[in-house]
Amino acid sequence: MNRIRVMIPEQILETRVVQTALGDFTIMLVCGDCTHLYPGMERYGVRVTDAMDRTVAEFLTNTYEYTPAMRLDAKSAAIKQADEWGEEFADHPADMVEYFSRLHPRCLSPAEAADVVLIQGSPRPDGNSGQIAGWIAAEMARLGGTMQIIYPDDMDIHPCIGCYQCYNSGFCTFADDMDEVFALVQRCRVLVVCAPVYSCSVPGALKILIDRFQAYHAHRNLMGGGGGGRQAGLFFGVCGREGDANFRPLREIATAFFATAGIPLSGTAWADGMDRIRDVRQVPGFAHEVQEIVRRALEQTGSSEKE
Ligand SMILES: Cc1cc2nc3c(=O)[nH]c(=O)nc-3n(C[C@H](O)[C@H](O)[C@H](O)COP(=O)(O)O)c2cc1C
Repeated sequence: MNRIRVMIPEQILETRVVQTALGDFTIMLVCGDCTHLYPGMERYGVRVTDAMDRTVAEFLTNTYEYTPAMRLDAKSAAIKQADEWGEEFADHPADMVEYFSRLHPRCLSPAEAADVVLIQGSPRPDGNSGQIAGWIAAEMARLGGTMQIIYPDDMDIHPCIGCYQCYNSGFCTFADDMDEVFALVQRCRVLVVCAPVYSCSVPGALKILIDRFQAYHAHRNLMGGGGGGRQAGLFFGVCGREGDANFRPLREIATAFFATAGIPLSGTAWADGMDRIRDVRQVPGFAHEVQEIVRRALEQTGSSEKE
């Protein structure tokens, strides 16, 4: 069973006992307070336990899953589920136990821990963001640290559909390459994003990846996953037009992204005017600035430099 380690306060709304040939099953209807995550968010649960107090079935649903146009609401859905399971466990206890025993818990795939995980947000592998990634890779090689690069454009990542089901289980409904991203991010010390400005935002594939971090937020808050506080976030941006004002949206995106990821944003650097300059390597001192920021972030998070 994929049971949530309950990190949110729950109130028992109702308990009923179903007597069966396999012994008594207890069906509990609970309500969890998630208002520390979102205003008014509540998570309703139905938990079935056997005579040995083992959870054999669980249903979770939260108030944010239900759009204004829907007739059903979270509490009614949970009550309906409790009623149905009441009948089904009474009539076919063995089938029910057998069915739920076949469901396996989902977990994040194990990942090699890397000192730096870098999300290279430009679809151009050898563009300016790619150059920045290269400077960081060179610095990590010099320091003897490890680095993993994520290319959102090469990955199978479904856009977030706003179903909010991640706030039930701690996992996105889509099982795709994001599980690997989360596993890497969870274990890194420094998370770096390199990105160009695209239409006053970030390129599409990176935006999709960023939106999917909602499930990482849910995972951290419901299951305690996350980097454990000693992580640092960095954001490096480039843009075509002249002027720092062109980075205003990216600054906001960076702030929102790292807040969702639960990682303090501890450094940024920006290079504008690429339409004219073309090559970020021509910006005096920029490579050094980026590498210095990365070095400082590594120091902050407990250096493992092998110099
Ligand atoms: C589709 C698209 C949209 C862009 N939108 C902007 C923009 O809104 N503001 C800006 O300053 N530059 C914009 N640019 C220019 C890029 O930010 C610039 O070329 C950057 O160097 C590309 O980064 P890369 O070399 O890492 O791929 C845009 C480029 C593309 C291809």
